[in-house]
Amino acid sequence: MGRGPAALEAVADALAADGLCIRSDFFPAELITALARDAHARFAEFQPAGTGAGPGRALRPQVRGDSTLWLESPGRSRAQRAALARFEMLRLALNGELHLGLFDFECHFAVYPPGAGYRRHFDRLAGDAQFAGAGGRVLSCVLYLNRHWPPEDGGQLRLYRPGAPALDVAPQGGTLVVFLSDRFEHEVLPARRERLSLTGWFRRRGQHL
Ligand code: OGA
Ligand code: MN
Repeated sequence: MGRGPAALEAVADALAADGLCIRSDFFPAELITALARDAHARFAEFQPAGTGAGPGRALRPQVRGDSTLWLESPGRSRAQRAALARFEMLRLALNGELHLGLFDFECHFAVYPPGAGYRRHFDRLAGDAQFAGAGGRVLSCVLYLNRHWPPEDGGQLRLYRPGAPALDVAPQGGTLVVFLSDRFEHEVLPARRERLSLTGWFRRRGQHL
């Protein structure tokens, strides 16, 4: 498929048809390596991720065991700037093709230590714009940054598809998963090794907390 306009259109078409899209070559391999290196160099800045909204927000490591580092636009490194620019191209293409009114993109690096996962959840509940601090999230994106990920290492993203069997996606470097945030419940299965990703959300205007 490559990375030209046809690739952007293919993502939009898949999302229009299935609400879900999985690609392995949307980002150049060199960028995946550079992002992984960038994340590793900043591990000291990562913070354990919480769950819940407002005063109910708390660390629940048995529910969600990752630590995250939010990226700030336009990015603190060449790799971050390149990744954010690529997601911006995708945002514009999706707005052009699907009229989703996506106005921004927020993302963080996430690292799950061995044994950690994230229990079954929605990134946003249907009809609930205020869900869990997930202001206006329309599309969830996960870009994996791990080299050589055989199935026995675990750590799959399990996507529960309405009316279809659940789909397991290995967190293999370069794999990009994009899905409608209020349609697909999902979980992160525990992995046998460290599991790194860049996870983000396209948001719609006027719905955040
Ligand atoms: C999340 C999430 C999935 C993954 O951060 O909300 O579900 O595969 N991540 O890392
Ligand atoms: Mn999620």
